[in-house]
Amino acid sequence: MAHILVFGNEKGGTGKSTTAMHVTTALARMGHSVAVMDLDLRQRSLGRYLENRYAFSAKSETPLPMATYVPLNPPEYYGLPEGNDAALRAFQDALVSFDSQAEFLVVDCPGAHTYLSEMAHAMADTLITPMNDSFVDFDLLARINPDTDAVIGPSIYSEMVWGARKARAESGSKPIDWIVTRNRIGAQNMVNKRKVGSALNDLSRRIGFRLIPGFSDRVIFRELFTQGLTLLDLKDAGAQKLNISNIAARQELRDLVAALKLPNVSVNF
Ligand SMILES: Nc1ncnc2c1ncn2[C@@H]1O[C@H](COP(=O)(O)OP(=O)(O)O)[C@@H](O)[C@H]1O
Ligand SMILES: [Mg+2]
Repeated sequence: MAHILVFGNEKGGTGKSTTAMHVTTALARMGHSVAVMDLDLRQRSLGRYLENRYAFSAKSETPLPMATYVPLNPPEYYGLPEGNDAALRAFQDALVSFDSQAEFLVVDCPGAHTYLSEMAHAMADTLITPMNDSFVDFDLLARINPDTDAVIGPSIYSEMVWGARKARAESGSKPIDWIVTRNRIGAQNMVNKRKVGSALNDLSRRIGFRLIPGFSDRVIFRELFTQGLTLLDLKDAGAQKLNISNIAARQELRDLVAALKLPNVSVNF
């Protein structure tokens, strides 16, 4: 069975697809076999990234290390209207059709609650929740006392994850390793950063996730999307030399992948 990595957060723009693209590419570059499913059925950023990567690779002399994209069939394929039934059928078909030899299955979720996303959470061996350094993002995880910044209790997304954990426990599966990572960390706004950091530390103990270092806000994390590339592919994109920001970004990616503690992965890029 593949180790399932789910990228989830019921909020858009937190960096799920960006983090998923980089982790997928890093695993493929290290020689692991990776299958990818994109449950953000309209936006499909991760699927689009992979399509761009196939196109780039097809044009280049040496093929790029690649993950296998497992597309979901549209509702028409099943003769069903759009909705949970069609989504479930597409998801089940995709699960059986994906290369069962793949070591990892990466699943990218939409930034809102959907039926499929909830099912994927219950299947996760590793759940990665990126968030921006903002109390607006924090609000999906927990409620905060506005006077003291103390955590009052879990909120909507954490409760969904709690339900997924419970479902797994009842079915005897091993527990989800839930990881929260702070994305787009900036060099400014120290007070806010410290406050969010300490609230997250508090929360990680209370609801049981691991807080790991994430990506800074860097152009390199987004600028190669249309070619289906990441900073790990810069040589293939014709770059002669990495600049300081690129080197720092690669270190952030290394640290992130190492902190995921995935089975049989030792970071060597
Ligand atoms: N670390 C980062 N540095 C720079 N831009 C980023 C970073 N992470 C995400 N972005 C940009 O932020 C936006 C939202 O990221 P995305 O990965 O699409 O979020 P989500 O999948 O959670 O909706 C995109 O425009 C993306 O390119
Ligand atoms: Mg996305």
